[in-house]
Amino acid sequence: MEAPVKIGIVTVSDRASKGVYEDKGGPAILAELTRILKTPFEPVTKVVPDERPQIAATLRTLADREKCCLIVTTGGTGPALRDVTPDATAEICDKVLDGFAEQMRAVSLKVVPTAILSRQIAGTRGKSLIINLPGNPPAIKDCLDAVFAAVPYCIDLLEGPWLETHEDQCKAFRPKHAVKKGPA
Ligand code: MTE
Repeated sequence: MEAPVKIGIVTVSDRASKGVYEDKGGPAILAELTRILKTPFEPVTKVVPDERPQIAATLRTLADREKCCLIVTTGGTGPALRDVTPDATAEICDKVLDGFAEQMRAVSLKVVPTAILSRQIAGTRGKSLIINLPGNPPAIKDCLDAVFAAVPYCIDLLEGPWLETHEDQCKAFRPKHAVKKGPA
């Protein structure tokens, strides 16, 4: 039997992790992924404070132990003193994929001038693709829509599961030679 497709969803927020306010980012990511992805997936959700070691440990667990093919974070990408999500992400990534952040900021900049304040990055750890998103829930849709067409093929290249999207929501791009591999 094929392993379930797991996707990590990480909310990085001091206040949400303490229960001072409700986590809005994690549910917004889940709603966006459910809208875009035709392939059924199992979300693995975490809420962590803005602490670099804790963020890094959570990302390592989701990639190495939970085997999430995709991990999406929200929050902690700005210049504020406690914003360290991109730093923790860079620390645990094998490769940084600059194009994702370039595209997300370019699209966000058309929506809000403060998009340049986000230090969000994306990268790979083993077979996992990790994408940082800003904390403001509307940014989640802006940024996922900006890059998601390239996500399924990126995961193919990482030898992960074949992801299919609802084409009316997001048309995934794969080069013509890309072929779906059966379970190993
Ligand atoms: N990008 C989009 N698309 N929409 C937004 O509202 N907010 C910006 C920026 N990028 C925003 C955005 C702001 S105001 C900040 S401070 C940075 O993301 C970082 O936000 P974060 O620290 O919550 O991650």
